[in-house]
Amino acid sequence: MSTIKIALLGFGTVGQGVYQTVHSHQEELSAVLGKKVEIAAILVKNHQKDRDINEGILVTTDFREILQLSELDIVIEAIVGKEPAFSYLKEMIKRGSHVITANKEMFAHHGGELKILAEKHGVSIGFEATVAGGIPVIQTITQLLNINRVTKLEGILNGTSNFILTEMREKNETFQAALKSAQQKGFAEADPTNDIQGFDAFYKLMILSELTFGRQPDWDSAWREGISSITREQVLEAKELGLRFKLIATVEKSGESIIASVRPALVSPSHPLYAVEGVENAVSIYADIVGKINLQGPGAGMLPTASAMIEDLIHAVKPRIIERSFRLENDVKEVFQQKKTKQTWLMIQKEALEISRDNTVLVSKIDSSKGLYIINADERTVKSFSERNGRANFFQILGEYHLKEQETPSLAFFN
Ligand code: HSE
Repeated sequence: MSTIKIALLGFGTVGQGVYQTVHSHQEELSAVLGKKVEIAAILVKNHQKDRDINEGILVTTDFREILQLSELDIVIEAIVGKEPAFSYLKEMIKRGSHVITANKEMFAHHGGELKILAEKHGVSIGFEATVAGGIPVIQTITQLLNINRVTKLEGILNGTSNFILTEMREKNETFQAALKSAQQKGFAEADPTNDIQGFDAFYKLMILSELTFGRQPDWDSAWREGISSITREQVLEAKELGLRFKLIATVEKSGESIIASVRPALVSPSHPLYAVEGVENAVSIYADIVGKINLQGPGAGMLPTASAMIEDLIHAVKPRIIERSFRLENDVKEVFQQKKTKQTWLMIQKEALEISRDNTVLVSKIDSSKGLYIINADERTVKSFSERNGRANFFQILGEYHLKEQETPSLAFFN
């Protein structure tokens, strides 16, 4: 039986998960591929660490040594950050190796260029593990796009922030305590800024946008907000209203525009993302023929991410038939457009509202002593109000929300 030779770039949590899985599932891999799979080389950051790696595998800190290997079919990259990962993958593609990556930041920035380069050199590029951990969302969208027109994606794409919000609500924990626990469990990145400020979910959303619509919206004008300013009090107030905080990523096509946002929202029990808890991720795909599909599963962690990368390995050796795929349209510069329709929001505003009659917004007081109001407004109005009044927080309510009897509706106007 012939052998497929692999190099692993990076031996952190994800790299180790791939290493383990290749060994624990060798029988299944050989049965599917008709070939043995062998890890020939591993690129590590630091030679000093003690690692449990089989004899005979090249373990090096020097990428050149891997590049010069005479036989190398597939490179699996699990490094953090844009560089040197991007440069390494370009070199590997040029030498004719298939590449598989879990690096969302790098792929959100350079995925388009890598796809073009891979096509030119006749190799494949797998990126299932960049989005939503072990959930086969890239595969599902790719398959659907053969015939469906996908109109919208909505989901929870960061396991760490979902875990933190769940812990705060269930265990009455502070943000900091919940973050520490996410770090101890290995869900958060070494520097958790990208997780809690919404960048990680945003990168994943951009990868999905490019796959689904052939392009990304203008990054600077999309709404990106994380969860770091959500307090335990706000989480508990929302709980009393029967709502849960979730960091929601959405991208949709509206005419020729792509509208994208990552921001915390409140989700009611009727919404499919309400039950997505802990480190789980979920993606709802809206398409014209099939309707709506909900995918849910582990969004982070060693083995779920390894599962996604091994799936890519199988497709690299046994390619899928893709009839229709989008190309990156570099010349299209999207202008961010906010939704003009009114939506329901919870406003948390401890101080008195400055009310005028310039802009009409319906306000229902829930509890003015706590500064809780339900608002019906479009995004533009909400954004401009919150920019001019930094003390007010707005969270869109997704799913059905019915006012309780004591929440007497009243009309108010503010600019
Ligand atoms: N830190 C990421 C998360 C890991 O929490 O979702 C998976 O991309």
